[in-house]
Amino acid sequence: MWRALTGRTALPEPLRSAARRLVSQSRCLSAASASATPSVSAAASDGKEAWRASNAERTFGGLQDQDRIFTNLYGEHDPLLQGALRRGDWYRTKDLIGKGRDWIINELKASGLRGRGGAGFPTGLKYSFMPKQSADGRPNYLVVNCDESEPGTAKDREIMRHDPHKLVEGMLLVGVAMGARAAYAYVRGEYVHERHQLERAVQEAYANGLLGRNACGSGYNFDVYVHYGAGAYICGEETALLESLEGKQGKPRLKPPFPANIGLYGCPSTVTNTETVSVVPTILRRGPDWFASLGRKNNSGTKLFIVSGHVNSPCVVEEEMSIPLRALIERHAGGVRGGWDNLLAVIPGGSSVPLIPKWICDDVMMDFDALRDVTSGLGTAAVIVMDKSTDVVAAIRRLSYFYKHESCGQCTPCREGTGWLWRIMQRMERGEARMAEIDMLWETSKHIEGHCICALADAAAWPVQGLIRHFRPEMERRIREYQAQAATAVNGEKTATA
Ligand SMILES: Cc1cc2nc3c(=O)[nH]c(=O)nc-3n(C[C@H](O)[C@H](O)[C@H](O)COP(=O)(O)O)c2cc1C
Ligand code: SF4
Repeated sequence: MWRALTGRTALPEPLRSAARRLVSQSRCLSAASASATPSVSAAASDGKEAWRASNAERTFGGLQDQDRIFTNLYGEHDPLLQGALRRGDWYRTKDLIGKGRDWIINELKASGLRGRGGAGFPTGLKYSFMPKQSADGRPNYLVVNCDESEPGTAKDREIMRHDPHKLVEGMLLVGVAMGARAAYAYVRGEYVHERHQLERAVQEAYANGLLGRNACGSGYNFDVYVHYGAGAYICGEETALLESLEGKQGKPRLKPPFPANIGLYGCPSTVTNTETVSVVPTILRRGPDWFASLGRKNNSGTKLFIVSGHVNSPCVVEEEMSIPLRALIERHAGGVRGGWDNLLAVIPGGSSVPLIPKWICDDVMMDFDALRDVTSGLGTAAVIVMDKSTDVVAAIRRLSYFYKHESCGQCTPCREGTGWLWRIMQRMERGEARMAEIDMLWETSKHIEGHCICALADAAAWPVQGLIRHFRPEMERRIREYQAQAATAVNGEKTATA
């Protein structure tokens, strides 16, 4: 139907554009219903759109100070051990360890915590995949992903530089939950100050008996190693990260085997995000019910949001999950430059997710399920705001260049396709293309998505798909304008030579 309406019929152009806009809006919802989530079909059956804040059973957001996990996010207090102790870190950690591995996993499952690294996989379940007992003597390893290289994303660095003990204590407790005796923190190469802060916190923890032999007096031995990356985006992908830790080129591995079976140095390992690990001690102390009481069902807890771009006060802020996007921007980032009506679009979850236009931003909630329902994603919760002054085609073209540059080159669709996307996008920006090439661009992105070893390929495809889905009329306008200019130039030449 979409093809019939958009490309291959003899409808007059204004009608075709209107039809496209309609289909574009219904696509969002039909793609969502195709994603087999009960909430969407339930929403469709009772005529509600579950992603709309106006349909929510209560208003989310406005996190109270007593519910904040990251109480030194802005570095106003001592980031190191004495300050951390005053903020409640390392409080009765020994008792938490004493409750054992299964207790920690069950508490995390009950809290509803979902991974903060982008995919939103349930954390307790993921940690439970680690083998209980090794048949062949291989140790289990915890690997913390502090690579944070996604454009727009800058939350894990605030934890490392201002609240590193939250992460170090989290590593110990998550290590216990996995039966691991050592954790590796893989820190992005450019984060020099951050890794120094983390190393200081680790040294303090060793010096005070919180890590090492008999950590916290619990009888559990646990070591932490801080490893520096060299600044490649692909090394944030979990298996590329493992390769890099092993001293090889950061190129993703084929799965299976999954890291929980064969990970770092061939041993069972779990790679997990910095924020995910850092919230674990507070969840265990305050209880899963407290965490689950924040945010919508299946989207629990508090979350670090990063707001950048065309806002008056870019910020990183901890807020309740499911806060409406508009409230997040207006309450914490000083609003869109020139007012809400000057908003063009938002990339809600870091550069890898499709953008959403203003009509969705008006009402969408910031959580995993709501953003999936509008064919985008929460990703890293890095909100990139674009006002009406933005050349949206140029913005996506720039992202295409990033993914082309960062592709590791192992898979042909990604290695070649990201370059194709970028080159076509360059011409789309100038309007120097044929109308049919918009569909070709879409199809190229579909040939890349889901056909490669890792999700970088999908990340390259989705921004382009978001652009076509929501800004096709703008792409067509440029092509028409370019063609009209070219025709005028040719006619001018003919007249001059006649
Ligand atoms: C290209 C690429 C880059 C990634 N970069 C990061 C990163 O910098 N930090 C991160 O936590 N996860 C990153 N991820 C996701 C990780 O592969 C992994 O899913 C995540 O660390 C799991 O953590 P979680 O379960 O706590 O969310 C990246 C994935 C891809 C495909
Ligand atoms: S999808 Fe791209 S980045 Fe990922 S392994 Fe393949 S070529 Fe490398």
